[in-house]
Amino acid sequence: MRILVTGGAGFIGSHVVEHFHRDHEVVVLDDLRSGHLRNLDGLRHDMVRGSILDPEALETACRGVGRIFHLAALVSVPESVSRPEECARLNVEGTRRVLEAARRHGANKVVLASSAAIYGDNPTVPKVETMTPEPKSPYAATKLEGERLLAAAAADGLSTASLRFFNVFGPRQDPASAYAAAVPIFIRKALRGEPISIHGDGGQTRDFVYVKDIVGALTHVADRPDAQGVFNVGYGRSLTIADLAQEILRLTGSSSTVTHLPPRAGDVRHSLASADRLRATGWKPTFELSEGLARTVEWYRAFKE
Ligand SMILES: NC(=O)c1ccc[n+]([C@@H]2O[C@H](COP(=O)([O-])OP(=O)(O)OC[C@H]3O[C@@H](n4cnc5c(N)ncnc54)[C@H](O)[C@@H]3O)[C@@H](O)[C@H]2O)c1
Repeated sequence: MRILVTGGAGFIGSHVVEHFHRDHEVVVLDDLRSGHLRNLDGLRHDMVRGSILDPEALETACRGVGRIFHLAALVSVPESVSRPEECARLNVEGTRRVLEAARRHGANKVVLASSAAIYGDNPTVPKVETMTPEPKSPYAATKLEGERLLAAAAADGLSTASLRFFNVFGPRQDPASAYAAAVPIFIRKALRGEPISIHGDGGQTRDFVYVKDIVGALTHVADRPDAQGVFNVGYGRSLTIADLAQEILRLTGSSSTVTHLPPRAGDVRHSLASADRLRATGWKPTFELSEGLARTVEWYRAFKE
């Protein structure tokens, strides 16, 4: 089967490509806005270098496609605040066009990478899909709008699912981007022996998920025509940022110090998934958090920038 991964040159997208590249035809549609061609080194795929907003590129990428993993997006909350219109165009209009193309080309499933950001700073944990969304940024609002577009397409006969990823980590996550996430930054600092900076007291918690389990969730719902709607993807386990830093220091054997910066405005205190809805469809994670972190550290140790 031909599989399209929009955003396939990105961190998570490249792992989706890696999952399928031996046994399926994989096409990547990516304009390299935040992704890198090096993420696809050694992975068999057809590359369409262009934007989901470019009709010609989208048309080429969708030809003969069975499943679509739609991961291309403006991915950063702070960037969405400074460029809200671009964010809406990419994440909402882009998703609308991907769905239209899916229908035109007879795709049998579209899965959207959505986000736990949709829950905003509602203090209730764990987050369940039935909670009222409280998006607090253009990024979160556009992801919610994307989910609604998928729901509307489902009502019209296309099988769709939106997965709300919690905090994803793993190999190939970019530590150098202006909007890099905690795990790659902490690992890079630890390996270089530089101080690790934590915003606030470090007591804020996150539900970190290893990228291979995200791929498992994406392929699981893609394989089941009846797995439709919105699903959280997380381990249902919370880790404080301070404990994350300590675990990374332990795994790297680093003597980096930990310093504290002022809290970041708008930082959510606690984030934790209930993945019961997804588990009820038969999905199970295959990694432990500690194993995922250890594998990620080993990858960064070998990675030459
Ligand atoms: N990493 C996380 O913790 C996390 C959490 C929740 C949701 N997500 C979602 O998962 C998806 C993948 O995120 P990621 O962490 O791999 O980020 P990433 O930046 O590595 O990947 C996004 C990819 O989309 C591409 N892209 C951007 N605009 C495009 C366009 N107009 N046309 C084609 N390609 C375009 C980028 O070049 C990049 O390769 C995103 O939709 C993101 O919102 C990620």
